[in-house]
Amino acid sequence: MGATATERLLLRAVSAASRAPSVYNTQPWRFLLGDDGVDLWLDLDRVLPVIDPDAREARLSCGAALYNLCLVIAVSCRAPLVEPLPDSAHPDLLATVRLGGAHTPSADELALERAVERRQTNRRPFLDRPIPTAARSALVRAANDEGAWLAFPHAAGQVAALVQRADHIQGQDPAYLAELREWTHQDGNRRDGVRAPARAPAAGIAVPRDFAPHRRDRRSDPFETDPQLAVLVTRTDTARSQLNAGRALQRVLLSAEVAGLAVSPLSQPVEVPEVRAALAELVGGAPQLVLRLGYGYPGAPTPRRPLSAVAAPAARRIHNPRRSETDAS
Ligand SMILES: Cc1cc2nc3c(=O)[nH]c(=O)nc-3n(C[C@H](O)[C@H](O)[C@H](O)COP(=O)(O)O)c2cc1C
Repeated sequence: MGATATERLLLRAVSAASRAPSVYNTQPWRFLLGDDGVDLWLDLDRVLPVIDPDAREARLSCGAALYNLCLVIAVSCRAPLVEPLPDSAHPDLLATVRLGGAHTPSADELALERAVERRQTNRRPFLDRPIPTAARSALVRAANDEGAWLAFPHAAGQVAALVQRADHIQGQDPAYLAELREWTHQDGNRRDGVRAPARAPAAGIAVPRDFAPHRRDRRSDPFETDPQLAVLVTRTDTARSQLNAGRALQRVLLSAEVAGLAVSPLSQPVEVPEVRAALAELVGGAPQLVLRLGYGYPGAPTPRRPLSAVAAPAARRIHNPRRSETDAS
């Protein structure tokens, strides 16, 4: 028997969700598909213990996946009904999404959904070309609409200095370097993690994390001299705020893609507690992520794990499968 229209819609939604960005491309999500919706679980096995001990960045990543999931439902003319963190006994159940009544997708939703497959993290140097005010305002609105805010600090030089400080501190930490190495590879068959870059970012300005600091033989790329940085901020730092920050992040990233802007997330300054505190002094609230924005040339898209590895059918939709396996052993 073939799949029903609802099953096909939910599979499309989950497939788009898995195209979301995630820290180190860990894809820390599990989707359990039911008759009328999807449960989104945090995959605790894929949380990075060194840089993300509280799973904050994993929740951000899952929030981005949740945004894509809802977007596909919305453009398929159904209202997505989301309940975040519905069960306090299961905090890794991040959200349930059900198919609501008829919905007429907006032009915005249609354009953002078309950008899902095109969007990618761009770690290459950007052009020294300023982002027009109207484009910045569109990104600020995108974050606001999801309950977060995007600050373009006047003191961008100070933010850049914090990126460098965090990079320096992490670069001294053997546990950080070991974890980074574990998730960086040159294996064309691997479906997660980050491909080791052939060239190193030049030191001295706010540049993307170097995923292969142990490789000293590489030429370095000159980056823009005046990086354009924004900080994604929430009022509080609860699990719910982090999930919202992820939704806001994805809406900002897709809006940037629609506007022809390249983005690389820079999470190092929010991974080192003292640097995150200094960033909070600059922008207020709870800084969730720094974004480097600009115009540039895209690289290759990154792979994802197959849907069979991240999605399971309704029959197993009672507990987080990872947890129940652990409990049974
Ligand atoms: C919470 C979060 C933190 C991230 N931090 C960084 C970072 O510090 N440096 C970086 O180059 N990319 C960072 N990324 C981007 C991921 O590495 C990227 O999303 C992942 O490799 C998948 O690639 P894609 O975005 O091109 O699909 C981050 C993404 C998320 C969601």
